[in-house]
Amino acid sequence: MSRARDSVRPTVSLVTSSDVDADELLALYRELGWHSHARPDRVAGVLANSDILAAAFDRDGRLVAFARVLTDHVLYAMVHDVMVAPRFQRRGLGSELVRVLLAELTSIRRVSLTCDPGVVPFYERLEFEPSTRSMDRYQEE
Ligand SMILES: CC(C)(COP(=O)(O)OP(=O)(O)OC[C@H]1O[C@@H](n2cnc3c(N)ncnc32)[C@H](O)[C@@H]1OP(=O)(O)O)[C@@H](O)C(=O)NCCC(=O)NCCS
Repeated sequence: MSRARDSVRPTVSLVTSSDVDADELLALYRELGWHSHARPDRVAGVLANSDILAAAFDRDGRLVAFARVLTDHVLYAMVHDVMVAPRFQRRGLGSELVRVLLAELTSIRRVSLTCDPGVVPFYERLEFEPSTRSMDRYQEE
């Protein structure tokens, strides 16, 4: 892809699982170094079983930004996998991904996410607050 094409800022929208090419999602996970996500069986599950998906595509129709939500549609929602391809970062796409998802979650009591400490400022700008209340349990691989 040429730099001229990269200069066009894609638009984020809600999508369905059939709008997202599993191989392109796999490639985005890999590009961002999320290797535990980047397995074909997992990508298939992510697309089939998430409740809300948002994405942006470049002018060639390739996936360049993606995020998803798991929710009971009443009390809880978890935002996962907020990702922008490096060549499109720091141009507002990540913020737009989260805002598009939050617009679907206005009646949900608690919207949560986990993130690396370095990304905290990004989410604070979107009115998330750090929490000490969450705990995780991982399955060994
Ligand atoms: C984090 C991420 C989604 C942000 O997307 P983005 O499109 O680059 O973000 P935006 O352009 O909307 O950023 C808005 C503001 O958030 C802050 N911000 C953005 N990325 C940041 C980062 N990595 N660290 C700290 N602050 C950040 C900045 O204040 C930025 O404003 P500025 O560019 O004027 O300084 C993107 O960098 C990414 O995909 N990173 C790798 C995957 C990841 O860590 N995802 C989060 C997992 S929970």
